[in-house]
Amino acid sequence: MKLESLNAYENAYRRSVEDPEGFWAEVARGFAWQKPFTEVCSWDFEGPSVRWFADGVVNITENVLDRHLASRAGQTAIHWEPNDPASPRRSFTYQQLHDEVCRVANGLKAQGFGRGDRIVLYMPMVPELLFAVLACARIGAIHSVVFAGFSAHALADRINDAGAVAVLTADGVQRGAKTIPLKPVVDEALGGCPSVRKVWVFPCTGEPVGMEAGRDVAWADAVDGRGGVCPAEPMNAEDPLFILYTSGSTGKPKGVVHTHGGYMVYTAYSFVNVFQYSEGDVFWCTADIGWITGHSYLAYGPLLAGATQVMFEGVPTFPDVDRFWAACAHYGVTHFYTAPTAIRALMVHGDEPVKRHDLSALKVLGTVGEPINDEAWHWYHRVVGEGRCPIVDTFWQTETGGIMLSGLGGLSPMKPGHAGYPLPGIQPVLLRADGSEIEAAGEEGHLCFKHPWPSILRTTWGDHERCRLTYFSTHPGHYFTGDGAKRDADGMFRIIGRVDDVINVSGHRFGTAEIEEAINQAPGVVESAVVGYPHDIKGQGICAFVVGSGTAVAQEACDSVVEGIGRVARPDRVLVVPGLPKTRSGKIMRRILRKIAEGRADELGDTSTLLNPEVVSALVLVSKQTA
Ligand code: PRX
Repeated sequence: MKLESLNAYENAYRRSVEDPEGFWAEVARGFAWQKPFTEVCSWDFEGPSVRWFADGVVNITENVLDRHLASRAGQTAIHWEPNDPASPRRSFTYQQLHDEVCRVANGLKAQGFGRGDRIVLYMPMVPELLFAVLACARIGAIHSVVFAGFSAHALADRINDAGAVAVLTADGVQRGAKTIPLKPVVDEALGGCPSVRKVWVFPCTGEPVGMEAGRDVAWADAVDGRGGVCPAEPMNAEDPLFILYTSGSTGKPKGVVHTHGGYMVYTAYSFVNVFQYSEGDVFWCTADIGWITGHSYLAYGPLLAGATQVMFEGVPTFPDVDRFWAACAHYGVTHFYTAPTAIRALMVHGDEPVKRHDLSALKVLGTVGEPINDEAWHWYHRVVGEGRCPIVDTFWQTETGGIMLSGLGGLSPMKPGHAGYPLPGIQPVLLRADGSEIEAAGEEGHLCFKHPWPSILRTTWGDHERCRLTYFSTHPGHYFTGDGAKRDADGMFRIIGRVDDVINVSGHRFGTAEIEEAINQAPGVVESAVVGYPHDIKGQGICAFVVGSGTAVAQEACDSVVEGIGRVARPDRVLVVPGLPKTRSGKIMRRILRKIAEGRADELGDTSTLLNPEVVSALVLVSKQTA
């Protein structure tokens, strides 16, 4: 499965395009199947309908856990680094991870949960979150992890959309010096979630929490005495493994669905090849399991490959800005994978916090989630990587399940700001708005893929038509990412950014419409419009233009976003304005708002055709006053 040279990559790529079925069948046969597949791929992008290894029977956790027990039972699977470095560290071998997962799985089964049930996990980055993810998969339940920074309202929306029967949570979460309650958020959410029968509560912060009789169970009570092997439920390769909610340009977040078979094959294959992971290496992905990166390159990909990894509960700046580098040195991390936002936030503290630590074990650095600016790339390469470690800039999405465009460890050439080349099996095309294909270098187009790969999303939970409309209707016959990209003369891809109303804040996706909807709930707000603007640390910041009354309307707008979505989506700037620029048909002219938020009001061009051209100068004035 591991490509050892650029030449091997080129050959694999060619083969994967000429004979995708033969190529992926060979990769997939490297896994343990309860019943081998005979069908490899059937697909059409009209329905859409994509099926990989459809008649195979497999449970992803057998490949994450059981398959390794013969050869690596005593190898560390997870080094868990707590939020507070003074707290005890915990580590788990593959055998221990297997046993812990079985215990949680048996506990879930004892309460009557099983195949096809949706279980929501709303937890801190403690090992029990990982056990719970794998335990759900073990019994054939469908996990849906909700990042613990989302609000009660957002949590309830996800629980209801998935029709979840259980919620696994904790009393609270420690993030840096802060203690944030979780159980009260769950209690508030569950007021409107009739499908939930059980809530498990893991003690993390030790804060007292209310427990509802009959519904709430202490974690220990649910799992104690549940030892013994829990056999892996035989799953069809196409059975759903998880639902992960992500934002689009319209409506509420969508539940992206991934499956046992294809997701397993692709996350393992992409992990080993992009990172060029070798036996004995120590991998660290800093993402929270609440996002897709934590699913594919913490909970699944590395464990499928039998890797040793670090799982981190805390934040990069606590107790000091050298936290990442201290932990890298402590565990001898060889592969470090993080978001450009984190790099930018640490870069401002200079080189010294990095230089304090011995990072000589590092071999490969990775970035994900947003474009990386040249300055951050060079700092990462020169200071963290000591000029010797290649950087893989990995482009992918919740919907793609795994990395699509990226360099491969030290094998491929790299260029700052460029994700590089497609992985084997990935067939990118750049299309103009009229659907014609861009062949030449330098022209920006819509980034699309013309052939399915094993971990492409199968549907959006409960609404297949939405899946078709969002990803497969803009350019018929293609999966459309929503991103604009260019190819350079060497064929390397550079991601320009979203071409829709999705903004990417610190590598996290939000739809402008969902933020506006939250703002519009605030009492004094009449209407609002949200745009992204360049932000030094976060990549993009959230700027809200709010029309409303009352002296506290800006604060109310922020509070309303925190309540409706969560603190992760709190606007960075709120401009209280007398009106929004509109076309004669009443459509908000976002182009004008973007320019104003970017501080480029001198580039507005002709605004005289607007319905209300007079508001533009008022907007410019407010923007200058609050800059
Ligand atoms: O705009 C692209 C950006 O993040 C979006 C996907 O967000 P999400 O589904 O939350 O997944 C993030 C982690 C995989 C994409 O549509 N994006 C992701 N990776 C990159 C990127 N933009 C530029 N460079 C990247 N390497």
